[in-house]
Amino acid sequence: MKTRKLGTSELQVTELILGTWAIGGSMWSDYDEAGAKEAIKTAIDCGINCIDTAPAYGAGHAEELIGEIVKGVREQLIIATKCGLNIEGRYEKILTPEFIMHDLEMSLKRLKMDYVDLYQIHWPVNDVPIEVSMEALMKAKQQGKVRYIGVCNFSGKELEAAIKCGEVVSLQPNYSLLERDIEKDSMPVCKTYGVSIISYGSIAAGMLTGKYKEHPTFKKGDARNFFYRYFKKEYWPAVKRVVDEVEAIAKKYSARPHHVALAWILSHDVVAGAIFGARNGEQVKDNLAGAEIKLSKDDIEKLNHISENIYS
Ligand SMILES: NC(=O)c1ccc[n+]([C@@H]2O[C@H](COP(=O)([O-])OP(=O)(O)OC[C@H]3O[C@@H](n4cnc5c(N)ncnc54)[C@H](OP(=O)(O)O)[C@@H]3O)[C@@H](O)[C@H]2O)c1
Repeated sequence: MKTRKLGTSELQVTELILGTWAIGGSMWSDYDEAGAKEAIKTAIDCGINCIDTAPAYGAGHAEELIGEIVKGVREQLIIATKCGLNIEGRYEKILTPEFIMHDLEMSLKRLKMDYVDLYQIHWPVNDVPIEVSMEALMKAKQQGKVRYIGVCNFSGKELEAAIKCGEVVSLQPNYSLLERDIEKDSMPVCKTYGVSIISYGSIAAGMLTGKYKEHPTFKKGDARNFFYRYFKKEYWPAVKRVVDEVEAIAKKYSARPHHVALAWILSHDVVAGAIFGARNGEQVKDNLAGAEIKLSKDDIEKLNHISENIYS
């Protein structure tokens, strides 16, 4: 699989990155641990070199699974994890230097590693100045426990403030054909400063696979009930219309809508990789075609047009 440079770093990430939220085993119903392990193994076997995780995914379980499975091949991989959500509490956002250092030590222990390649702030906070949090991250970098720093879910303004404190190589935002708000906010900031985007929710948590023929509902506690707005019932007709149109375009490429959705994300130069979550090896293999399609200029324009202003 082709790789792209991650911002100003020396890291070359594959265009597709494995995400491990659902693999953690909580907040996504119908967890299958064997499938989760197989997803990680399959991704590595298929040449994906970057795995995104976080303490918050299954309260440390996703990191533990990764630690167990990547033994022996760790050096070939780019491991990205996050800090700032307190899994020993109520998942409150904390970015004090003490908490960042503690969070990092716990992640390294679960991952059974002595460094992570990309350490990302999971969510911005208001009560700790970004320069204070960035100083802690840079200290972790000097200590060799972190190779590069990234942020997730930062607005353009928040990203710019972080960049002023030290090297930020990536932004991980919610970005897909069903969620394009960053194009007018943080994406231009990324372009200005050479920060790469690694998108999450890239296939709209399964919505862009076209597998839902009616408005889907999920069990109590499932994150899809509240995290991604395209699952809200009021948006279903508009969302379904977009998915159907993506499906029609996908047919021209003998592909499925999620392949086109991934290819569309990768058509943006500022994107280094599209993160996708997968429950098992089969889903991993199925998603690989997303990195093989080269969309025509015409189709990119069509996709831009059909996915514009869905929620207004
Ligand atoms: N930084 C952050 O705040 C943040 C937030 C969210 C996510 N993330 C990261 O980004 C990753 C990706 O986001 P995401 O997992 O929320 O959403 P996603 O990648 O858009 O969707 C993943 C889900 O879609 C379904 N799916 C995947 N491949 C499929 C296929 N080939 N056919 C049918 N269904 C398929 C699976 O769920 P079902 O089988 O249940 O349908 C899977 O769990 C996460 O795992 C995590 O690493 C980061």
